[in-house]
Amino acid sequence: MCGIVGYIGDDNCLPTLMNGLKRLEYRGYDSAGVALGSNNSLHLVKAKGKLINLEKALSSNNVNANIGIGHTRWATHGIPSKENAHPHTCCTSDIAVVHNGILENYQELKEELKKAGHKFASDTDTEVLAHLIEENLKKEKDFIKAINVSLARIKGSYAVGIINNSKPDMLIAAKKDSPLVIGYGDGENYIASDIPAILDKTRDIQILEDNEMAILKAGSISVHKNGKKVDKKIVDVIWDIEAAEKDGFEDFMLKEIFEQPKAVRDTLRAYVKDGEVDISSMGISDKELASFERIYITACGSSYHAAWVGKLAIEEWVKIPVDIEISSEFRYRFPVIEPNTLLLAITQSGETADTLAGIREAKKRGHKVVSITNVLGSTITRETDGSLVTKAGPEIGVAATKTFLTQLIALYLIGLRLAKVKGTLAGEDYKTIIEEIMKLPQNIEKSLNKKEEIKKMADVYHEKPDFLFLGRGFGLPIALEGALKLKEISYIHAEGCAAGEIKHGPIALIDEDCPVVAIVNKSATYAKVCSNIEEVKARGADVIAVITEGDESLSNHLKHCIEVPEVMEAVSPVTTIVPLQLFSYYIAKAKGLNVDQPRNLAKSVTVE
Ligand code: G6P
Repeated sequence: MCGIVGYIGDDNCLPTLMNGLKRLEYRGYDSAGVALGSNNSLHLVKAKGKLINLEKALSSNNVNANIGIGHTRWATHGIPSKENAHPHTCCTSDIAVVHNGILENYQELKEELKKAGHKFASDTDTEVLAHLIEENLKKEKDFIKAINVSLARIKGSYAVGIINNSKPDMLIAAKKDSPLVIGYGDGENYIASDIPAILDKTRDIQILEDNEMAILKAGSISVHKNGKKVDKKIVDVIWDIEAAEKDGFEDFMLKEIFEQPKAVRDTLRAYVKDGEVDISSMGISDKELASFERIYITACGSSYHAAWVGKLAIEEWVKIPVDIEISSEFRYRFPVIEPNTLLLAITQSGETADTLAGIREAKKRGHKVVSITNVLGSTITRETDGSLVTKAGPEIGVAATKTFLTQLIALYLIGLRLAKVKGTLAGEDYKTIIEEIMKLPQNIEKSLNKKEEIKKMADVYHEKPDFLFLGRGFGLPIALEGALKLKEISYIHAEGCAAGEIKHGPIALIDEDCPVVAIVNKSATYAKVCSNIEEVKARGADVIAVITEGDESLSNHLKHCIEVPEVMEAVSPVTTIVPLQLFSYYIAKAKGLNVDQPRNLAKSVTVE
């Protein structure tokens, strides 16, 4: 997500900070800033947009600072702006903080601090931490203690770099659920959210574990946990810059597939508080939510497949009709939409031209429009009445993976909130669904563990010219998404279709050169999909089935089965798509293709 870099030593810190931030540019960001500690005063310089703007803002800077922290921000709380850019400071401007992650209880803390007289300059969660440390410092008198007491009050995830004007000889780093590393130099030391940021300075790295705090001085580093000193191993990083940017993964797409448990966890953290869905930041009151009698969803590509899953879940839980339509069709035929309809636009980029055109038409006609997007501050977040922003972090691979999974989560949460305000789910059922959703990050991990066997299957099948993907119910949009992933990055013709429809056409394609990928959830139509598998097998097709763990009747019967954990049917798309993403990935790799930038495709489609 965002990028952190920090320096303490005898030299001017600015070149190290700026080089480090440049090394993190590939991750995507919308603003940047540095805090420089010199002669007992902190200099804060920030700019919206690219690093070139920060460089311009720094051009008149002649501060020679030996300690500093820098940050590239990818907006989560508050739009991209100079005010919301990190570092953040407090009332006395003594303390500066850079932060990656999400402080879940920041609103509550902010209210408390406001009552104590604190004034805030930004909309971010991070600024709250700077003020909290300042407040605790009044009582504790000790900087480290004040940080510890403050971090103990925080719910959520953080990787932080903190400096203090009155303690110019120390740079503090701490983390929980967000990565942070420390680097050892010669008479100088560094912190970074990602290894590439400091790789040209040092290869001696320590990776901080959750709840550890590092105190960096120019000539020493000590790491502490629960008040005790920790002895940590120094890792000699042998990666080159390119490998380090991908965290050692071969491609961004594979890295992003493996980031999915975190992306889902971060999205849940942002919108589920103490077992209750809280999507109030979307800007639609519960009363208004309860008044909607229909939902109309418009989207393109993978976002459209997410819409389809959302339709099935919302109809099941909320018992209201949900229509879905591809944006390029929706915008021109603009259907009759009844008055009490919520229009929902789904787009990972927040910029898709067709989706934007549909939104504008709907708004012109007086409809309430909300969006699900991964990019806060994008055109679509600005033009809709409210947005539910997914927390997947920047996605670099062109084919959507982690953004797709977080869109599913966002739709489930909207469905659950609607069910709550309309009273359409019994309390116990609501609770069970939330519990199932909260367990998804672990269950995605289990799907990811099938990596090696999926790779072997891809090696067997990568030369086949055609694939058919079959599914029913919640498995159908996943069959479509699986086929889309395969054609996007491997250029193999792949078709996703309703398993019950094959006899009306697609079955004519079947022969030994057209493998069939079947999604066979434990569901009411399980036996029907099994019959469809028999039909294609009888015509010579090899079948690769995504099955529920322990389904021996299929695993004993089919050559290729990929087991995914047993989850509630409505949330099964989250676990069943993961092996299909990996399958496409390994097929494309076996064909020697560029998976991150497939031919003819773009991440953000801003033209018709
Ligand atoms: C492009 C991307 C797809 C994405 C689609 C819709 O084709 O390559 O991954 O699903 O656009 O984009 P959106 O940003 O609206 O979700």
